[in-house]
Amino acid sequence: MKNWMQFMVLIASITSASALLASGGTERGGSQMPSVNNAKWKAECSSCHMLYHPGLLPERSWNKMMAGLDKHFGENASLDPMTRDEITRFLVLNSADKSDNRRSSRIKQSIPANAAPLRISETRYFTSKHDEISPATFKRKSIGSAANCIACHQGAEKGNFSESQVKIPR
Ligand code: HEC
Ligand code: HEC
Repeated sequence: MKNWMQFMVLIASITSASALLASGGTERGGSQMPSVNNAKWKAECSSCHMLYHPGLLPERSWNKMMAGLDKHFGENASLDPMTRDEITRFLVLNSADKSDNRRSSRIKQSIPANAAPLRISETRYFTSKHDEISPATFKRKSIGSAANCIACHQGAEKGNFSESQVKIPR
């Protein structure tokens, strides 16, 4: 009888362990970034380039970027303080630190703790995923630069970088 009880306990723990694994693949830790929305972010951060999903950079990168909008990659992207603060809060709340999807976690892990890169396209995660694409390809008229994710990833603004949706334009 004692052995039988031990057997039942073993079965119960295996079942809960596999349920945990299964949920890890879907509800938490999936590769799709969560759907996010903020009207000011959409209006102000998509006039010069595509909208970058907040889950693509850690909180410290967004804070640094939003504190230096007057010198934003050679452009003046300044905002009034209220709009700037609202967008900053939105970016921080949905940053790679706050998201448990797989890509945000990998991006975060690829950035040294003392670094706050402003470019997603210069993170180690990005370069490791794009090492087979030549600089000439990124410079094509139809693409422009590595920062133009949406030229190749149709779902980029929604945080969808699934391999089935990648297409490099000519
Ligand atoms: C006045 C134009 C302008 C506005 C407005 C603007 N940006 Fe940019 N941004 C740029 C330019 C130019 C680059 C460099 C693009 C390139 O290298 O191809 C850039 C690059 C970036 C990058 C780096 C992309 C990469 O991985 O290489 C991020 C992230 C970014 N912007 C976020 C924002 C956010 C957030 C806002 C809104 C607060 C914003 N931008 C508003 C002009 C702008
Ligand atoms: C010139 C086209 C191109 C551009 C621009 C580009 N990518 Fe990619 N990306 C690719 C290709 C091709 C792959 C490899 C897909 C594969 O492995 O099947 C890839 C892979 C990825 C992956 C990994 C997908 C996976 O499941 O392994 C991520 C995440 C990603 N890109 C994000 C980005 C982000 C963020 C940007 C912009 C900052 C960007 N990419 C810009 C072409 C591009």
